[in-house]
Amino acid sequence: MNALDPKPLRGKVVVVTGAARGQGAAQARILTAQGARVVAVDVTEGEGCRLLDVTDQQAWQALAEELGDAYGQVHGLVNNAGITWRARLGDVQADDFERVHRVNVTGPLLGMQHLAPLMRSGAAIVNVGSSAALTAHYPVAYTSSKWALRGLARTAALELGPRGIRVNTVHPGFIETEMTASAAPAFREANVRETPLGRTGHVDDVAALVAFLLSDAAAFVTGADIPVDGGLTAHGGVKSISDALRSPVTPA
Ligand code: NAI
Repeated sequence: MNALDPKPLRGKVVVVTGAARGQGAAQARILTAQGARVVAVDVTEGEGCRLLDVTDQQAWQALAEELGDAYGQVHGLVNNAGITWRARLGDVQADDFERVHRVNVTGPLLGMQHLAPLMRSGAAIVNVGSSAALTAHYPVAYTSSKWALRGLARTAALELGPRGIRVNTVHPGFIETEMTASAAPAFREANVRETPLGRTGHVDDVAALVAFLLSDAAAFVTGADIPVDGGLTAHGGVKSISDALRSPVTPA
């Protein structure tokens, strides 16, 4: 392994879900630039994307058969597809709760179940969680689904470790995509206020970490939860206290 290799993913076949736009599209771009043969899938149409609903078992089965025939193996899976639903605890409907869990948890489960059999030692799975998976974020269906995804990932790391397959989860903070564009301006402002680096994230901030975790440079990293959130979840909610007492004149 050469740390200066500009194409550390050369020749690796990597499936990226939710790749029609946002973070998934950025991951597909960066992984391709690093030499991967990216199989981009999404439930909606997107450039270079094939249609696949991550909740559809038959679709996964068909994809696995096709990739098995074409390449004989798969080196990576990025479970990036996800949806949000901003209802609070008292308002959320059971149907919406289940719909969010189907995409955000059952989808990654099906991806792992169908593609792991095609993986050999050195392969890697990356799940896209959320800072919601590390906190009590208010949209309860989304938050509980991302916590469940962490559990799924840890179990998968244990289960697939003996075969040399790594499973990690990245936890983005507020990233500028269509998902966050649909939130109220107050949501964005509050996120920036709570983020030590003082800005929102760019899709490439997350994609670079995903690429690293798929590469052989991360060969001893598995079962990890890695925030990529400008420090949002690092301070445990005390940033506002620190900011309130900070004075340009008198150290507090
Ligand atoms: P996005 O809404 O822009 O993109 C999500 C993509 O997933 C879309 O192309 C959508 O069509 C696809 N998708 C949705 N349901 C699908 C299904 N059943 N099957 C296949 N594809 C499906 O959102 P973004 O921001 O790019 O989100 C990517 C991931 O990052 C998601 O898992 C999201 O929960 C997570 N995330 C996003 C954050 C943000 O601030 N944008 C923060 C933390 C996590």
